[in-house]
Amino acid sequence: MIQGKWFAPGDDISPLISVRESVFSRGADDLDPLSWNALIYEDGIPCAAGRIWYRDGAYWLGDIGVLENRRGRKLGDLTLRLLLYKAQSHAAPEVHLLCPTGSEGFFSRLGFRACSASPEGTEMMLPGDQIDLDTCKGCPKTNCPGRK
Ligand SMILES: CC(C)(COP(=O)(O)OP(=O)(O)OC[C@H]1O[C@@H](n2cnc3c(N)ncnc32)[C@H](O)[C@@H]1OP(=O)(O)O)[C@@H](O)C(=O)NCCC(=O)NCCS
Repeated sequence: MIQGKWFAPGDDISPLISVRESVFSRGADDLDPLSWNALIYEDGIPCAAGRIWYRDGAYWLGDIGVLENRRGRKLGDLTLRLLLYKAQSHAAPEVHLLCPTGSEGFFSRLGFRACSASPEGTEMMLPGDQIDLDTCKGCPKTNCPGRK
């Protein structure tokens, strides 16, 4: 069973540190007390995580990572959608992120566009009014129970 959990700014985020350490070789930092952290469990095991924070008039996403042996099964997509849902519910004017070169396609699927590149990676941006979490978009099925 897949479950998602939010950690509000200031919460104890120790349940998600194993994911961050495994994917990014980093632990908790000064940004965590300012961030909402999302954690995805599969059968009770922490498998994917990411965070969102507000800075200078925009929301930023970061540290979106899935354990290597759990990739390719939409857990990253679920994490990104949870973070975008949070941005949307906070009426974010813009959502930004910095991603490693080569991973832009994962974010452009949900509307992010590259706005600059540097040795640290590619900065991407999505206007808040263009956040679209419709998972049925582009799907040709017409008899799916999820489709209204
Ligand atoms: C990037 C990452 C989060 C993707 O997680 P994942 O669970 O393997 O991805 P998903 O199964 O949810 O993939 C969803 C879709 O994105 C695509 N996708 C996944 N990784 C991609 C990448 N690096 N580039 C382009 N597209 C990608 C998949 O093919 C899939 O496409 P589909 O919907 O057409 O089938 C994961 O590979 C990861 O943790 N990477 C290391 C950390 C990292 O680079 N994080 C991103 C920046 S913080």
